[in-house]
Amino acid sequence: MKRIYLFAVIVFIFTSGRSQSSLQTGLAFHTVSSANSFPVSFNIQDSNSNDLNRTGDYALVAGGSKGIGYAIAEALARRGYNLILIARHLDSLNSAKNKLEYEYHVHVEVLVYDLSFDNAATDIAKWCTDRNIPLKMLCNVAGFGGAKDYLSLPLDSLRYMINLNVGSAMALTLTLLPLLEKNAPSFILNVGSMAGFAPIPVKNLYSATKSAVVFFSYSLSYQLKEKNISVSVLCPGPVFTKPEIVEDTKKKLGWFGSLMAVPPEKVGEIAVSETLDHKMVIVPGTVSKITAFLIRLLPRQMIVNIYGKAGDKK
Ligand SMILES: NC(=O)c1ccc[n+]([C@@H]2O[C@H](COP(=O)([O-])OP(=O)(O)OC[C@H]3O[C@@H](n4cnc5c(N)ncnc54)[C@H](OP(=O)(O)O)[C@@H]3O)[C@@H](O)[C@H]2O)c1
Repeated sequence: MKRIYLFAVIVFIFTSGRSQSSLQTGLAFHTVSSANSFPVSFNIQDSNSNDLNRTGDYALVAGGSKGIGYAIAEALARRGYNLILIARHLDSLNSAKNKLEYEYHVHVEVLVYDLSFDNAATDIAKWCTDRNIPLKMLCNVAGFGGAKDYLSLPLDSLRYMINLNVGSAMALTLTLLPLLEKNAPSFILNVGSMAGFAPIPVKNLYSATKSAVVFFSYSLSYQLKEKNISVSVLCPGPVFTKPEIVEDTKKKLGWFGSLMAVPPEKVGEIAVSETLDHKMVIVPGTVSKITAFLIRLLPRQMIVNIYGKAGDKK
């Protein structure tokens, strides 16, 4: 018991810093306002389907136009995978497509979808199945978080979070399973977060959705072994994908946040390399690995109290 308390004290000292007010390690600090205001439209931009590369393997990256998703797409392109990238904005999808095709000479398809929609996965899977895409890897990356959620956000935003973070990963996995099975050995890479290892009061629902992704991935990994489909879950600490995340992480975690942060390109490279090595839980960066180890070791009630108290200090 003494050792557990010692670990608790170490985690607390590490994560609170001198003047820091929060222990929200490893969370995605997306702006919350975008969830409600986003236009309700989705469609397929199928301009290049005649160019499909019939001989090369494909990977589908849901949320692949920016941030960690783009970094994963780039790490895959570097290895010669053709890509299907999905996101809501066509401009950033096209710019990702142009960069990747120019740099790595792979073929990139872009599909414009809001993945939080019920029918998105079914439509995407139909698009892939109709073209008999040689799908080797599915990467479920798109997610939504924020500095605060439950008790602070409207119901619509919370539903959106669940639909995107859990619903889209669940639905794409199920609907694309036949193609992945047909092209086995194949891979599924789900993007969780270190926030999925512990209940975090201020990020109540985000943390809950990411723990659902972690648990889903563990069970799926067991269930799909006999189909020769390997499942991994990426659980990063802070990744500076946009200025708000840099600012928020530094404000809340100070020097420790900067110490834990891993650049997106490195996260993408580690994620792909370890997924191809059949690693189940992937935590990029040494400091994040140690923190994740401690968080997972300590009793839940103790962790929730530590995070809660630190969150209250603001
Ligand atoms: N950054 C971090 O510190 C961090 C830490 C731990 C875990 N994570 C997790 O990593 C994942 C990616 O985070 P990130 O920071 O790289 O995010 P990001 O930079 O905001 O990129 C998100 C990607 O997903 C797409 N996307 C977002 N909402 C979508 C929707 N409803 N439908 C379709 N596509 C959508 C975005 O394109 P559009 O905007 O055009 O749709 C973009 O391509 C998330 O699941 C996040 O929770 C992030």
